[in-house]
Amino acid sequence: MTNLPANMPEDSDAAFAYIGTVTAPTVDDFKLMIYLEASGQGFYQALADVAPTPEISDLLARTGREEMAHAHRLQKVIEQISGESFAVPTPEENPYFAVPEGIELTEELLGTIAEGEFGGELLYEGWAQSLDNEDAAKLLRQNGKEERIHGERAQQVVGLLTA
Ligand SMILES: [Fe+2]
Ligand SMILES: [Fe+2]
Repeated sequence: MTNLPANMPEDSDAAFAYIGTVTAPTVDDFKLMIYLEASGQGFYQALADVAPTPEISDLLARTGREEMAHAHRLQKVIEQISGESFAVPTPEENPYFAVPEGIELTEELLGTIAEGEFGGELLYEGWAQSLDNEDAAKLLRQNGKEERIHGERAQQVVGLLTA
């Protein structure tokens, strides 16, 4: 794990708590966010695996794939602002990539997820504003826009669960 950013928080809760306080990210902050975004795919796939219908499962798996795409977009951001090539970690290399066992798809969990996703949009917007590089800012805003879609999709799943 030579790729780990310096001073990485120990678990994903601590990492999310920290990253939510960042208003002007450093390259290390972007690296940490790559780890968190990449871990999102495992989390959403675990939810997709316990979904009661194929439609719900597909929605959640799609969000998971998009979290991995966010990690790849952040890789481009790092390249653009620093010239550094930073590899997106594999699940094995990623301490935050824990597939939660015995997770249940509840309205409450989906509500928490939706809030987190909407917060993600705001976080990315602030980060975009903190950068001088317009191309990099555009990539961050694309991630942010998709976080809002993820939040709306989580709400859509609530609707499908209770239909
Ligand atoms: Fe994301
Ligand atoms: Fe998301």
